[in-house]
Amino acid sequence: MADRPLRAFVCGHPIAHSRSPVIHGYWLRQHGIEGSYERRDVSPEQFADFVRGLSDGPFVGGNITIPHKETAYKLVEQCDTAAEAIGAVNTIWFEDGRLCGGNTDAYGFAANLDSVAPGWEGNGIATVLGAGGAARAIVQALQQREMQDIRVVNRTLSRAKVLSDRFDDGVSAHTLDALPELLSDTTLLINTTSMGMAGGPPLQIELSGLPDSATVSDIVYAPLITPLLRDAVDRGLKAVDGLGMLLHQAVPGFERWFGVKPEVTSELREIVLADLEKGH
Ligand code: ATR
Repeated sequence: MADRPLRAFVCGHPIAHSRSPVIHGYWLRQHGIEGSYERRDVSPEQFADFVRGLSDGPFVGGNITIPHKETAYKLVEQCDTAAEAIGAVNTIWFEDGRLCGGNTDAYGFAANLDSVAPGWEGNGIATVLGAGGAARAIVQALQQREMQDIRVVNRTLSRAKVLSDRFDDGVSAHTLDALPELLSDTTLLINTTSMGMAGGPPLQIELSGLPDSATVSDIVYAPLITPLLRDAVDRGLKAVDGLGMLLHQAVPGFERWFGVKPEVTSELREIVLADLEKGH
């Protein structure tokens, strides 16, 4: 029997904006678990010491967020296949005293689409906008689901190439000017860039060339309805916001630390939305 209360954390720099404590706090209350989920602001200089100190307690594990996900990947003793493919760790836990790392972003992305847009794999052709860490997770999810033709489109072609080279056949790299042609047979379009976020530049893409059966998904969740998703809805396409992925990616960590697989409920979604609307 583990010592009670069970304690988990989210570690980033800065960390005040993280909504993860709202999500895990909701599940802890819902399941009547005596435990906590705490924010830890740890600078890049202190991060390695923070991770090495974890074996002394008091935490059963935690989430790792910006800017530490890639460093965490290098520091853990063992990784799951998703973290290995993505090269970043967002969830850590102990197994037989060993510090293990996983990446739940790909799971969260696919689980959310499964719940709100079943059949989202469409014709197996996906176009991914952006080539950063978030794009790596999305491409991993798409490959796991055996999508045949994954096009990574990025402002900087060299970054798209580095990303496509990480993965097996079926992932290609393109510049933004190739988009009109690529969209004509794309049944899943995903924005993984920060464009469309509140206060930043909007993502302006002509969606008229997408097939009528296409799904458009954005990982940005503030605002919930980004200009890209608004355009998709106006065109009568299925639009999937980024909040669902945020909620679903939290499920595997909670299950590992607290021993219960939690559910993403509409009540949880409303609570996190209200928190987002309050701002920082
Ligand atoms: P993350 O790890 O969160 O995905 P990132 O590594 O900073 O973040 O990647 C951000 C992505 O958004 C990149 O693909 C970036 O394009 P570049 O590789 O060309 O930098 C893309 N991006 C950000 N701002 C952009 C803009 N104004 N126009 C086009 N692409 C942009």
